[in-house]
Amino acid sequence: MRLACSDSRSSPILVLLHGFPLSRAMWDGQIEALGSVCRIIAPDLRGHGESDAPDGVYAMDEMADDVIELLDAMGITQPVVLGGLSMGGYVALSLVLRYPERVCGLMLMDTRAAADTPETARGREETARTVLHEGDGHSMIETMIPRLFSKSTREKLPHKVGAMLAVMERTSSQGIAGALRGMAVRPDRRDDLSKITVPTLVLVGEDDAVSPVDEAREIAGRIPQARLVVIPGAGHLSPFENPTATNAAILGFLAELPGLAATVTA
Ligand code: MLT
Repeated sequence: MRLACSDSRSSPILVLLHGFPLSRAMWDGQIEALGSVCRIIAPDLRGHGESDAPDGVYAMDEMADDVIELLDAMGITQPVVLGGLSMGGYVALSLVLRYPERVCGLMLMDTRAAADTPETARGREETARTVLHEGDGHSMIETMIPRLFSKSTREKLPHKVGAMLAVMERTSSQGIAGALRGMAVRPDRRDDLSKITVPTLVLVGEDDAVSPVDEAREIAGRIPQARLVVIPGAGHLSPFENPTATNAAILGFLAELPGLAATVTA
């Protein structure tokens, strides 16, 4: 799989996986502020941004395997700090559970561990068909905006909403359909959370309407070494909506990781 990716080339290594139907552009606020203290590798997951968008169902395991393939191709064999937002979080969970030796710290952002309900999965399939039929994701994207951003972001930062809207509009219909179908068949990971042995930061926007604070609290409660941080003023895209608070939380987390305190100061 040919994945496009941004790489800021320092250390420690932070791998950031974006949400649906976005791209690595959602991490610009992290790359800009943290790129000098860590090496940030931010791929476009399959079907998104500038990466390949094959036909088919993009299972979360397959997307995680793409990331491993990318790290291998870059010669990165040491464990990385892995972060994922929403769909990126589903991929991060798959990766940390199947390749625990590749991860030294985990950041689950605005994401869920539960599987889709049958009704949600059916809705995703209907949307996938509509998007493929219409040839773009325009009608789906319109309905997503109020759920992705907090009211305060929509009112005070319309240029940021516009920037992500433009990213979403560029996502191909194959990419959207493949990801929707992959998310619909993802497994329930709640009982696996206790198997995660690395320090974990669970981060959520205070107004996240897709993966609410209570769900994030439950995830943090099930992971042995997890800490919950709630990002003020943010909805589902907290790192993008409030990069200042998110970056402070990431820096604090990195500074506490064994072996990294000397290189990262919160
Ligand atoms: C995302 O932001 O990646 C999506 O909202 C995830 C989902 O639809 O479950």
